[in-house]
Amino acid sequence: MQFNFLISKCMSVNENGMTILNGSQQRNPQLDEVITTMGEASAKAQNLKQVITSPTRFYQTDQKLYIKSEGKHCLGILKVGKKNLFHRDLNGLVREIQPLCVLDFYVHESMQRRGIGKELFEEMLRCEIIYPEKLAYDRPSPKLLGFLKKHYHLSNYIPQNNNFVIFSQYFENRQLIVNQQLASQNSQSQYSSTPSKIEQLGTLMSQMSIQSTQSKNQQQQQSKSQAPWATDQKSQQNMYETTTGLMSAQIQKKR
Ligand code: ACO
Repeated sequence: MQFNFLISKCMSVNENGMTILNGSQQRNPQLDEVITTMGEASAKAQNLKQVITSPTRFYQTDQKLYIKSEGKHCLGILKVGKKNLFHRDLNGLVREIQPLCVLDFYVHESMQRRGIGKELFEEMLRCEIIYPEKLAYDRPSPKLLGFLKKHYHLSNYIPQNNNFVIFSQYFENRQLIVNQQLASQNSQSQYSSTPSKIEQLGTLMSQMSIQSTQSKNQQQQQSKSQAPWATDQKSQQNMYETTTGLMSAQIQKKR
């Protein structure tokens, strides 16, 4: 998308043509023009009745906008933000989660399928320090679903009423999977009796994470009537004791 000014005149652009804006960004007319034009083009490309990205819908929020540009051309945008979501699994169990969500993603038609989307997405993953499976995706288009399958092998999900896609790997522990793979490799090697420190640490962290999730679930069940911002000190104490108990048991075992 071509503008009649250099994009770097209205926002700071790094050497890779990347800009990261947040909602507290200082506004200027040219920046507003870029956001408005790209937001409208994105809505049109997705056949949406409503524009998702506009200056009024972006400023004063905690969302972030990643922009890829080159000279006077804006090549693409990617908007992310946190949402409170309810996810229902196949057994009807509903979980409340607060994932970072991909809210809007658009690469100009003339530049699609050249890796610009991947560049934007990877920049976002790096800056947000997150794996693709730990994101939620707001009404992903067939192109975005294809993109995620191709680049990140993400395809399994349970359709939800809210139209957000959460891939099944969201609920899995990546560290646990890596550990299981490492353990099976190690069991075939001469070092099987002396697992590496990283593996021990990984196992410990996985167990702590599972314990912490279980404690959190218990805590949520106990305090359904409690306001979401209220803290249950007793549950936190229990969780702390479980975690420290687990750590000292591990240390004893190693000794
Ligand atoms: N048809 C089918 N798949 C496509 C298409 C297309 N026209 N364009 C990209 N893809 C998928 C394919 O898997 C493709 O791999 P392939 O070419 O080997 O088939 C892969 O994306 C290409 O990866 P990149 O080049 O890195 O992606 P690109 O720069 O094209 O950006 C994006 C991907 C953002 C989805 C872009 O295609 C686009 O803007 N589409 C229109 C708007 C849109 O649908 N946005 C997502 C809305 S949903 C949301 O924002 C939550």
